[in-house]
Amino acid sequence: MTEENKNKKITPETTGHEWDGISEYNVPAPRWWLITWIICIIWAIIYWIFFPAWPIPGGNSKGILHWSKQSQLAKTQAEINAKQSVYLEKISQMNLQEIRQDPNIMEFALNGGRIAFKENCAACHGIDTQGGKGFPNLNDDDWLWGGKLEDIEQTIRYGIRSGHDKARMSQMPAFGLDKILTRDDINDVVEYVMSLSKPGFVNLSGEKIFAENCASCHGIEGNGDRSIGAPNLNDKIWLYGGDRPDLLFTITYSRAGVMPYWASRLDDSTIKELALYIHALGGGE
Ligand code: HEC
Ligand code: HEC
Repeated sequence: MTEENKNKKITPETTGHEWDGISEYNVPAPRWWLITWIICIIWAIIYWIFFPAWPIPGGNSKGILHWSKQSQLAKTQAEINAKQSVYLEKISQMNLQEIRQDPNIMEFALNGGRIAFKENCAACHGIDTQGGKGFPNLNDDDWLWGGKLEDIEQTIRYGIRSGHDKARMSQMPAFGLDKILTRDDINDVVEYVMSLSKPGFVNLSGEKIFAENCASCHGIEGNGDRSIGAPNLNDKIWLYGGDRPDLLFTITYSRAGVMPYWASRLDDSTIKELALYIHALGGGE
């Protein structure tokens, strides 16, 4: 082969177009490219037939599968609901102790309780269940009304001073406002309560006043009484504060915290889930 012929072989014809000395070869597209292209076209046509694709007057072509994000979501949601209803059904039929002994149901209940707590209770008791001034911490061992599962359930169902017929009720007198005690007596009893609770602090001038006016509810040693929600006064846990100004206010005006009832606001299963959740936080008895 001559040198000239060799060059002819490897240099295909050009289309004749030329731009600034650059010319275009006249060769077919590579086969792999052509095949991919045709497959894409076929795939697109199949897709148009089965799935929503083209904008048309009044919406879009629906495709023969009638697939839509909404129908897909509804289907998943229905599956979830079906799964949940099996559990919820069981929770509504079982009592609290039975639920506790069934690890699967219990796990479901605790998750439900956690969510229901965030939605309904966190505003007062805090997102971390630790409460704040006037709102009790629910994850410690200190209980106003009782930390057994059944106690907690009752508190949630009917509330405290909530106006419900079965609400937990009690009322500390407003010793100053209603002139049951003089200002001096109240100052003395404040010192006495501080003596009960602050290590090293001793001022017993109010001992007799306490015994006569307070011990019937809070106990002679200030241990409190859960049957009436009277707090322990000799620990370091305070609902309204254990310093002089807080105590003075509490004893002068009394407090009477209100916890709403949930009996008609949340369904039975949710109330059970909440009781189990709170009981399991760490302070349950
Ligand atoms: C509007 C505020 C508020 C909301 C909302 C609220 N609570 Fe309470 N809760 C209180 C107050 C105040 C007390 C303390 C009442 C008292 O002084 O005895 C309390 C007490 C309690 C107690 C008793 C604690 C103890 O030591 O015995 C439990 C249990 C409880 N709440 C659970 C819940 C749950 C569960 C929810 C949500 C379904 C909830 N609370 C929603 C205000 C609220
Ligand atoms: C009829 C029962 C009753 C009597 C009598 C009574 N208390 Fe109370 N006391 C309660 C109740 C119930 C609470 C809780 C109120 C609440 O949660 O809002 C309480 C709360 C308190 C608190 C707030 C505790 C905290 O954790 O912040 C103090 C302090 C207190 N009482 C001191 C006294 C003193 C001192 C006397 C006597 C002068 C007295 N109480 C008499 C029922 C009583």
